[in-house]
This record gives sequence, structure tokens and C-alpha cells, in this order.
Amino acid sequence: MQLRLALRSALFMVPWLTHLLLANVILSTLLPLSALFPDFCYTASSYIAESVWYGIQRVFTRVNRADIIVSGDENLNENESAIVISNHVEWTDFYLIQELALRAGMLGKCRWFAKQQLKRVPFLGWGLWAMGMPLVSRNWSADQKEMDRVFQGVVKRQWPMWLISFTEATRYTHAKHLEAEAWCKAHGKRVPQHTLFPRAKGFIACCQNLAKAPQMKAVYDVTIAYARKGINGWQFQQPPSFAESLLVPRLDEEWRFFVHVDRHPLEELPRSSEELAQWLEDRWVEKGERLEVLRQKLVKGMPWEAA
Ligand SMILES: *[C@@H]1O[C@H](CO)[C@@H](O)[C@H](O)[C@H]1NC(C)=O
Ligand SMILES: *[C@@H]1O[C@H](CO)[C@@H](O)[C@H](O)[C@H]1NC(C)=O
Repeated sequence: MQLRLALRSALFMVPWLTHLLLANVILSTLLPLSALFPDFCYTASSYIAESVWYGIQRVFTRVNRADIIVSGDENLNENESAIVISNHVEWTDFYLIQELALRAGMLGKCRWFAKQQLKRVPFLGWGLWAMGMPLVSRNWSADQKEMDRVFQGVVKRQWPMWLISFTEATRYTHAKHLEAEAWCKAHGKRVPQHTLFPRAKGFIACCQNLAKAPQMKAVYDVTIAYARKGINGWQFQQPPSFAESLLVPRLDEEWRFFVHVDRHPLEELPRSSEELAQWLEDRWVEKGERLEVLRQKLVKGMPWEAA
């Protein structure tokens, strides 16, 4: 039975993978054109990306029936550009952020911080590069040029964008949390629950540079949570793997998916680097408290709902 259903999901994947491959070939041919026709290439790549992302989102929510609990989406403004920050649990986090982007009409305008090494992956990596994804090493001085390229598109060319980063720079694990805890204690910081300590440098640069762009109005602060049904009850922050998200046909029977978003007008954020770092820390402490409420609901056998 499971095998038959997995085959059914795989069957849905074949057209999507073909679509993905074609899209990346087209995007790669846009790459040499992007220096000459930057606005055209940004718009074209946004439409192409949207079709691919819409496809995989539908495999996740319709074919495999993931039931995403969306909280706070009344805070989103349609077509609004934003800096999007989020905690990071698993690869599958992108579905939850895409669900928000879809509701805000910004799916095609999503640009994610990705690993620099992808530039060397033929087609797939070139495609991301052509779309104007920030491909970074996470060494801030080495990334300056790449960030300037992205900021220039938003500030000078006024491209609409959701610039998305997982602010902890890495996925959450218990071991990394213990490290973060030790670091926070040594540096006199509060330890956010269920997350790692957020990296401030990139966030500060985004806020300070993008505040100059007239279309860039807000910071969206996203909280992501999962639960998996086990023999001993629900397990907190146990997401499916990427492969499971594509191949398990009834995701709603085994997992809970939760995403919450808060909107903060960019003009209300502090200006100085120190205050922005503090502001970000406050958001993460808040996020930890929100996640703890969800965990306690699981322990008490209560459902999760939009707050
Ligand atoms: C958002 O953009 C779409 C597509 O361009 C347009 O149809 C819609 O009216 C826009 N909505 C708002 C609130 O500007
Ligand atoms: C970061 O990049 C700069 C400039 O490329 C380099 O000098 C420095 O050694 C790098 N730092 C780390 C930690 O890799």
C-alpha cells in the first residue's frame, strides 16, 4: 500500500522535475543577458521561478496533503516587498514560507540566501544566480560584493522582493543549541528557547541598505514549527525530510506544520547597528516563547491553531 502510494507521488514528481530542469536551462540562458537587460531578466526569472515553486507547493499541499496551519497572515500586505527572517528547522521550511508568499502574491519574488558553492552547479546553480539570489559564504567581508549586487537591484532598480534569510545561518539541532547556550552565557545574552542565537550582521546590513528602497516597507518575522506523531505521542520539531515531503502521500496524518508571521514596519525599527542587534535578539526570545507554547500544547494533547 505505502509503496503504491509512494509510486503515485513519484509519478507527480516526473513532470515537476522536467519543469524544473527546463526552467533552469532557460534561467541559465538569461544569465549572460542579465548585465544588458537587468529589469527584463528579473521579471522573466520571477515568472519562471513562480511556476516551478507553485508546482512543488501543490505537490506538498494538494498531492501529499500537508495541512499547514498559517497564523498571522492578516499581517501580510499584498505585493509588499519585505525582509523576511525565520528560524530554521529543516529543508522543508521553504514550503511554509512559500505558503505565506503565495498568500501575499510574492511567490515569484522570493529570493533566498543560498550557498555560494551553488554557482558552480550547472543549470540549477546558474539558474539561482540568474534570478538574483544572494549566493553567500557567510563570511561577511567576503560576501560584501555579492550583497551589493542584491541591494543594488532592490534600491536602484526598485525590484519587488521578499529577501529571505534563515537568521541562525544553520539548521537547529540540540547539540548546536547547547553550543549557542554556552556562547550566550559567555557574552551576557539571553538564550532563546528552541532556536539558536540569531546572526545580526547580515540582518543589520539588509535593514540599513534596503530602508533606502521606497518599495521596501517591512520586516516579516516568521516562526516555523513541526510535530510528528509517534508511538508515545507527538514529538516537537520533528519535520519530514525533503524526500518524505515529496513521497509520503498523507503528510497530514503524520505531521503538523505551523507557520506564524509578524509584520514590523521598517521605519519603526531602530537605526544603529547595536540597537538593531538588540531588536533582533528580542524577536528571537519572543519566538522561543511562542515555540514553547506550541510544545506545551503538544504535551497536553491540545491542537495547534492560528493565534
Ligand atoms: C498585486 O499584484 C497583482 C498582480 O500584478 C494585481 O492584480 C493586484 O491588484 C495587486 N494588489 C494590490 C493590493 O496592489
Ligand atoms: C573572510 O574573507 C576575508 C576576505 O576575503 C578573508 O581575508 C578572511 O580570512 C575570511 N575569514 C574567514 C573566517 O574565513
